[in-house]
Amino acid sequence: MTDRPHQDSANSMWGGRFAAGPDAIMEAINASIGFDRRLYAQDIRGSRAHAAMLAATGIISDSDAMAIREGLLTVLSEIEGGDFPFRTDLEDIHMNVEARLKELVGEPAGRLHTGRSRNDQVATDFRLWVRDQYDAAIDGLTALIRAALSQAEAGADWVMPGFTHLQTAQPVTWGHHMMAYVEMFGRDRSRFQDARRRMNESPLGAAALAGTGYPIDRHATAQALGFDAPMANSLDAVSDRDFALEFLSASSICAVHLSRLAEELVIWSSAQFRFVSMSDKWSTGSSIMPQKRNPDAAELIRAKIGRILGATVALFTVMKGLPLAYSKDMQEDKEQVFDAADSLMLALAAMSGMLFDLTANRDRMEAAASSGFSTATDLADWLVRELGLPFRDAHHVTGSLVALAERKGCDLPDLTLADLRSVHAGIDDRVFGVLGVHNSVASRQSYGGTAPDQVRAQITRWKERLA
Ligand code: ARG
Repeated sequence: MTDRPHQDSANSMWGGRFAAGPDAIMEAINASIGFDRRLYAQDIRGSRAHAAMLAATGIISDSDAMAIREGLLTVLSEIEGGDFPFRTDLEDIHMNVEARLKELVGEPAGRLHTGRSRNDQVATDFRLWVRDQYDAAIDGLTALIRAALSQAEAGADWVMPGFTHLQTAQPVTWGHHMMAYVEMFGRDRSRFQDARRRMNESPLGAAALAGTGYPIDRHATAQALGFDAPMANSLDAVSDRDFALEFLSASSICAVHLSRLAEELVIWSSAQFRFVSMSDKWSTGSSIMPQKRNPDAAELIRAKIGRILGATVALFTVMKGLPLAYSKDMQEDKEQVFDAADSLMLALAAMSGMLFDLTANRDRMEAAASSGFSTATDLADWLVRELGLPFRDAHHVTGSLVALAERKGCDLPDLTLADLRSVHAGIDDRVFGVLGVHNSVASRQSYGGTAPDQVRAQITRWKERLA
């Protein structure tokens, strides 16, 4: 980038009424080219559509539009080729592109900005960029859901401890646990889909704020840019950033889900749990402790919520209380969204890869599920069902049996019939049918429950949804 500490002459784009250029610090705070150059493709696409519309409506000549549209393609290839002379004194991507166009095609370039303002231009460019991110998030989530589905399918009947308070609660299946994340990521995906439908309207042609006296065709530019319609209110069109706030909000919720799964992977891959082994591709070693296999990717995914939520809070704070229509504050929208989008896409891709390559340790999970009195609820339910005890009494009897097993240093299925009868004389040997973890999960047949049949039904439903 060519940095000019101080301009002696006024800005060539808007400096008509200025005698001198801006102070160097003014230029530094004002310029966005350092980051909004990332919108170059959208800027050029928007300008090409605008120029074509100006010619079609007779506002400029066909030959001028042709020169502009061809020149813009040259600018595009210069930027993509890495030899574009970005200039800080030209503030932003819009004026950098237009100034270069002027150098390339001369006078016709000056007609491009007819019936348009940088306010609707930046709103259009940014909307196009964010729209691509909605699509990337939807694709990334689809891949992630497929990865979780593949785990769920492999282990639909693998038993693991289900937790509340991170204490062993009741046995569940690995498939059921994976499908819980499929539901979360499915909601995330539909949030992005919803918001994308809502945001797909064109601000272009709102001009500075009030619309324009030129006979422009906003429907034509909206269509050329893949929007469903032009935005209905020009003041709203230039001042709305809901599309970015919704993207950040949906990203934040998605990042919460990612961080919860990441946290579980960190716990499960520890030497104390060993529920899962991460492949070499997704682990790192320690330079001092040779035994270490660190789940760095999971930890970093867990941390990304910090940046994404930070960006969300930042942009909400920028937008809050801004009077209509455009204010320069809104230039601060881009870096936050860029960073959040980059973080989200990376986290989604890393989580998909990690999950696809993950090995769940079936035996280890089953052994853990079989300890910790995880079938105590099944025992209490049996006492209610078979002996007619009120649930509260059954809960009490079961509590005494847990205490007995604890004293004996064994688990519930290891108690003898005599042990069981010493607490409640009505118990008979049919009870052993419910004390095992496989019986326990198989019995949870309620809709959405952990029974393998239920889990498989949900897997089928999701595969149909994604097909
Ligand atoms: N760089 C500006 C932004 O990102 C473009 C719009 C400038 N508009 C203006 N009236 N100064 O918001």
